[in-house]
Amino acid sequence: MRNFYFLLNLLLLFFIFDKLSLVYTKEALAELWDVEDNELLDFFAIEKKLITIDKILQPLIKEHILSFGGTYINVKKKQVFVNTVDPSVVPIITNSSELMHTDYLNFITFVTANNSLVTLADRFLKIYGLIKQFRPKNIECYIDMEFNNIVIRHSQKKNNSEFLNSTRVYNPIFIQPSVNFSHPRCKEGITQFPILRRNLILEILGGEGLMNLLNREECSVGFWARDNYNENLNYIVTAGHCSIKRSRLAGAENFAHMSWDSPKLNRLGQMVNSDKIDRYDFGLINITDSTYLKSMTTLIRNTDSKSYAELIMEDGIEVTSYGSHACKSGWRSHVTCGYIKGLGTITTDSKGRAFKDLIYYSKSAFQITCAGDSGGPVYSYLQDLKTVGLIGIHLGRFGDFSKFLPLNIILSKGKIKLVRSSH
Ligand SMILES: *[C@@H]1O[C@H](CO)[C@@H](O)[C@H](O)[C@H]1NC(C)=O
Ligand SMILES: *[C@@H]1O[C@H](CO)[C@@H](O)[C@H](O)[C@H]1NC(C)=O
Ligand SMILES: *[C@@H]1O[C@H](CO)[C@@H](O)[C@H](O)[C@H]1NC(C)=O
Ligand SMILES: *[C@@H]1O[C@H](CO)[C@@H](O)[C@H](O)[C@H]1NC(C)=O
Ligand SMILES: *[C@@H]1O[C@H](CO)[C@@H](O)[C@H](O)[C@H]1NC(C)=O
Ligand SMILES: *[C@@H]1O[C@H](CO)[C@@H](O)[C@H](O)[C@H]1NC(C)=O
Repeated sequence: MRNFYFLLNLLLLFFIFDKLSLVYTKEALAELWDVEDNELLDFFAIEKKLITIDKILQPLIKEHILSFGGTYINVKKKQVFVNTVDPSVVPIITNSSELMHTDYLNFITFVTANNSLVTLADRFLKIYGLIKQFRPKNIECYIDMEFNNIVIRHSQKKNNSEFLNSTRVYNPIFIQPSVNFSHPRCKEGITQFPILRRNLILEILGGEGLMNLLNREECSVGFWARDNYNENLNYIVTAGHCSIKRSRLAGAENFAHMSWDSPKLNRLGQMVNSDKIDRYDFGLINITDSTYLKSMTTLIRNTDSKSYAELIMEDGIEVTSYGSHACKSGWRSHVTCGYIKGLGTITTDSKGRAFKDLIYYSKSAFQITCAGDSGGPVYSYLQDLKTVGLIGIHLGRFGDFSKFLPLNIILSKGKIKLVRSSH
């Protein structure tokens, strides 16, 4: 009898433990949307519908760019919001054949706005001109659809006062980014430098670790790509800044792979192109001759999820809607998600150099990425929690905003193609 109770207690303990760990293994997307895992499929369907509606709306309002100020979706509110400067044009939109005989109109809200797409684009261009003139340091500039205005994110630590003052005529919103909820995993350091060894790794997945063996800088595996013209040339795509730029050693740096669970290093190869491809921050690690080429996969690591520890990357896709989700897998913070905040942005680095076309994603007030995640794959779930579409590689963080380089730029500038899962 006593044994029986012992067993019962043990089972009970197990059960509690299991529940506890479940709390911590809520899907990253459920974390973002603040829903339970079992509600995710419903919310997927809603998001998919909203994106479809947004894709119909965007060309319609582009015919009236003086009357509308852009669109964004909100999954929790189940609505596509249309910034409306001139309400008299609304009936022309709602009367369009694409929307008329559907229930789509139930999912569209026209909201009063001051700034039309023309006004926003014009001011954005003028501010870009000022960025080139004043070369402000560490700023992020984008059109925020919810604010219906241009936002300039800047750091108090940098004196950009001349530039910021010069932009005031365009009435942008200034934000000094902050984080109220830092990511717990970002504080952990590697206590011990992992040992370089040639052990058998069966698979290399997107999101796993990379180490620059020269400066011990950590990054993340992005994705597997092949040369456009020569199928035999194989690369791992990661962030260009993982390599030491413009040093006499550049090009001689070797990169090694680190799995999430066992930090042992496996030497992969060298980066052939770093940060030089029209100043877009990505690089290619040449694994053509590597013994680990056969270990390369088209999967993305998501170990913290109980049911979907490995995500299947089906395709490359493009982001079209503000407010849609984007998730990344990275060596430090693993899988986390944010909302698309800025498309076609302008970012400057600590030296005032400007970089175009990064996409910002964020969960307001939360830190969703940290150092070491750079290069990791950014993706959207397609219709379930198993299959995803690649949208880019993660590049960095500024307060609660993270940014990624879109896939189409990487593929066209790198003259490479994505290796997709064959099934
Ligand atoms: C709606 O569209 C139809 C034709 O598609 C047109 O005859 C009608 O005048 C339109 N109504 C409004 C309010 O624009
Ligand atoms: C539009 O501009 C007016 C005057 O500047 C301001 O009071 C109002 O709040 C603005 N409306 C929106 C929706 O931003
Ligand atoms: C920032 O720079 C401007 C000139 O570029 C200078 O007048 C101002 O005093 C500086 N402010 C601070 C806080 O250093
Ligand atoms: C800010 O810019 C205005 C003109 O746009 C100029 O008159 C003013 O002196 C500037 N102030 C500072 C502190 O730079
Ligand atoms: C990658 O490695 C292969 C095999 O060593 C080599 O032939 C090729 O030129 C390299 N690619 C680049 C771009 O350096
Ligand atoms: C972050 O915390 C500060 C201070 O508690 C608060 O003022 C601010 O509104 C918070 N920011 C967000 C986005 O919640």
